[in-house]
Amino acid sequence: MKSIEHLNRVFEHPELMVMGHAQSAADHNLGLGWLYYAQVRVTRPQTVVCIGSWRGFVPIVLGRALADNADGGHLHFIDPSMVDDFWADPQRTQAWFAGFGVDHVTHHLMTTQAFVQSDAYRALGPVGLLFVDGMHTAEQARYDFEAFEALLADDASVFFHDSVRRLRSPIYGKDKVYEHSVVDYIHALRQDPRYQLMDYAHGSGVTLLRRAPPPPPTEVTLTKSAMAGGAATPAPPPAPAPA
Ligand SMILES: C[S@@+](CC[C@H](N)C(=O)[O-])C[C@H]1O[C@@H](n2cnc3c(N)ncnc32)[C@H](O)[C@@H]1O
Repeated sequence: MKSIEHLNRVFEHPELMVMGHAQSAADHNLGLGWLYYAQVRVTRPQTVVCIGSWRGFVPIVLGRALADNADGGHLHFIDPSMVDDFWADPQRTQAWFAGFGVDHVTHHLMTTQAFVQSDAYRALGPVGLLFVDGMHTAEQARYDFEAFEALLADDASVFFHDSVRRLRSPIYGKDKVYEHSVVDYIHALRQDPRYQLMDYAHGSGVTLLRRAPPPPPTEVTLTKSAMAGGAATPAPPPAPAPA
């Protein structure tokens, strides 16, 4: 089956067309999912970690991109199935992902707090892409990011979903309504000069974080040999100002 046919299967499931990724079945539009897919195809991470998902839209898109990279990348999906029992049965979870051609995924049926105590966490190695979409409080978003911060590869990408506005959510029960406050943590991260952030205020919004680039290199002059592939020579110092 062609890759696009696997991906198109998400449009057959109304439960994958919700939760604020600006996706729409009518015109086969992945919405923000195009960003998630493209980021994996462009940066080719070997290890992707996705925290939290309603019915799997994000891990399916990330998993499809890894499959299409075809270079051995693996997805770790962390979710304790706190909303209902959707992720509770390992065989059912594996079959659900396999239905979209996503086989290189390990589901960890636990919170991030439990995952950081596990052997799987200690064995992870550099993480090329982290997707934070668990409990949408500023405190939990901070916990999720800091749990993986030291493991992030130099060119890692981090997405935070539900990151651009405040919202009251009854998803854990009418008596457990809580406020999404990831936006407050994003504001704090924006003050950190080590990182650059970009918001996409579509659907429920997503923010992409990458390391800030180093200062630009000193000016170089392109010589003919440099243009042909040789080393560029530094520009000569400016002439002294006339006395
Ligand atoms: C309902 S989803 C949010 C919806 C999401 N925006 C989407 O697109 O699917 C949030 C998920 O985070 C999980 N979750 C809650 N607390 C968590 C934690 N501490 N660690 C990992 N996952 C958590 C829940 O089990 C739930 O499935």
